[in-house]
Amino acid sequence: MASLGEADTSSGVVKYFSLDEVKKHNSCRTTWVVIHHKVYDLTKFLEEHPGGEEVLLEQAGSDATESFEDVGHSSDARELSARYLIGEVHPDDRKIKDEDVLITTTTTSDSNQSSWTSLLVPAAVALLVALAYNVYSSSTTADPLGPPPTH
Ligand code: HEM
Repeated sequence: MASLGEADTSSGVVKYFSLDEVKKHNSCRTTWVVIHHKVYDLTKFLEEHPGGEEVLLEQAGSDATESFEDVGHSSDARELSARYLIGEVHPDDRKIKDEDVLITTTTTSDSNQSSWTSLLVPAAVALLVALAYNVYSSSTTADPLGPPPTH
């Protein structure tokens, strides 16, 4: 999957914006959105957007990552986004999102664990059956009358 355009690193400085700052740019006069923690100024792109300006205005001033990804934008669209990149969300303002990722990861490893357990249970049952069969067959092959009298 192609990634979104990187911030202009030619100057070596990334500009950080707080979410409060992004929120202020929520109109057609100034339209900022956040996609994958990056801040885009889409004001000049509104009329050019093939998906229409309405959808962008709906997301103006907020995190549009989910909507952007839901559409399944092409790699061309992702490259184009670099033109409108103005900075990144301040790391302090990403905290909640990072925790979200953490929860997702934990859930994933949980489900891995349960798939392990689901393999272990039948394996343990199979082992028990094998053991029971061993005990059963050794008790039936032994002479039920015991050894013949010696005298
Ligand atoms: C930097 C931001 C964005 C850029 C550069 C961009 C660019 C594009 C481009 C080039 C297309 C044409 C189809 C493609 O190549 O994938 C497109 C379609 C579309 N975009 Fe965006 N877009 C951006 C943000 C968004 C956001 C935030 C939303 C949702 C709120 C959105 C919703 C749509 C929709 C609904 C279509 C139409 C899809 C279709 O007709 O199948 N876009 N966009």
